[in-house]
Amino acid sequence: MSAISKVNTEPPAGTGQVGSTAAGTGQAGSNAAGTGGVGVPVLEVRGLTVTFRTEDGPLSAVDRVDFEVADQEVLAVVGESGCGKSVTAMSLAGLLPRTASVDGSVRLDGRELVGADKKTLRSIRGREIAYIFQEPMTSLNPVFTVGNQIGEVLRIHNGLSRSTARKRSVELLKLVGIPSAERRIDDYPHQLSGGMRQRVMIAMAVACDPKVLIADEPTTALDVTIQAGILDVLRGLRERLGTSIVLITHDLGVVADLADRVAVMYAGRVVETANVNELFAQPKHPYTAGLLAASPSAGRHAGTHRLNEIPGLVPVLAEQPNACTFADRCSRARDTCTTEQPLLTAEGTPNHHVACWNPVREPVEV
Ligand SMILES: Nc1ncnc2c1ncn2[C@@H]1O[C@H](COP(=O)(O)OP(=O)(O)OP(=O)(O)O)[C@@H](O)[C@H]1O
Ligand code: SF4
Ligand SMILES: [Mg+2]
Repeated sequence: MSAISKVNTEPPAGTGQVGSTAAGTGQAGSNAAGTGGVGVPVLEVRGLTVTFRTEDGPLSAVDRVDFEVADQEVLAVVGESGCGKSVTAMSLAGLLPRTASVDGSVRLDGRELVGADKKTLRSIRGREIAYIFQEPMTSLNPVFTVGNQIGEVLRIHNGLSRSTARKRSVELLKLVGIPSAERRIDDYPHQLSGGMRQRVMIAMAVACDPKVLIADEPTTALDVTIQAGILDVLRGLRERLGTSIVLITHDLGVVADLADRVAVMYAGRVVETANVNELFAQPKHPYTAGLLAASPSAGRHAGTHRLNEIPGLVPVLAEQPNACTFADRCSRARDTCTTEQPLLTAEGTPNHHVACWNPVREPVEV
């Protein structure tokens, strides 16, 4: 049995890269007009579309999503449960099951990943793009010590000897703030607290110095004081290793604390992107405004506040309509909203994009 967490290196059983390569998909027909405002992107996502085959027919989970992440940038992806955040994250390096059909383009440092063969994806996962998931206990292997698990990542991906891998593992545990790392390296996951396990997961994820770290709700399972420590670790990684981070979270406090830019998703689409301060100060999509307004103390000065739900439910769609999917929950809806899909366009500043026929322009109390 391998000591390695399947999360960092391997897709779940039955995973296959599916769908077509669509390098150069470009903007035509895309759900976004480019997020703009970043330096040279390390990760460039264009027209990313994911549909699942289910017993009840097709399910459209992600619809022509565009975003990019620059060197050392933290992009937060927010939105209600079921809006497609995790599916987007998992599609970035082929972690979706075979029932998923993936189209569009995901370029990591210019290399196309959609449609890439399994060998290429395997070599990229862990080494160039790494994942941290919400629940470390489901990702760490309970029967191996943390040293074994980090060491195996280093031996397989970097070809380190057993003793060098052990030395490096201690360094990594120190990097993520685990005290007495020389001793804790021989602990089994159950001997560590939830916060420490999450730090071990982060150490494994950054073991090979990935260009991009995808953190899917990395602090949700942890209590508030421990969350702050994990956020410090992520911030430190960005500063010390230069890692770009895609941070998926429900928590506006986490967004305010760590993110440079935010992409707001709704029903499989990105509906608004902006720099974090701008988004909190002046949300332009009625959905974003609703989320912020519904969250007490949200915004720039957010503490640790989960996004509150707003009335109604995110629709589950067999196929994406040529309309705004938020229309039946939106107090600003007009006729056009139900007959034409709004695409992301710059609104106000060049870095602020919103997909809405009637964006919020008046000052918003958040
Ligand atoms: N393997 C799958 N097969 C079929 N449908 C799926 C599969 N995985 C996800 N979905 C569906 O895709 C949609 C998006 O799911 P996703 O997990 O990305 O949501 P999310 O935004 O991450 O939500 P949460 O905040 O609850 O984690 C949902 O309708 C979900 O039910
Ligand atoms: S496009 Fe129309 S329905 Fe959709 S969010 Fe904007 S105003 Fe509301
Ligand atoms: Mg999720």
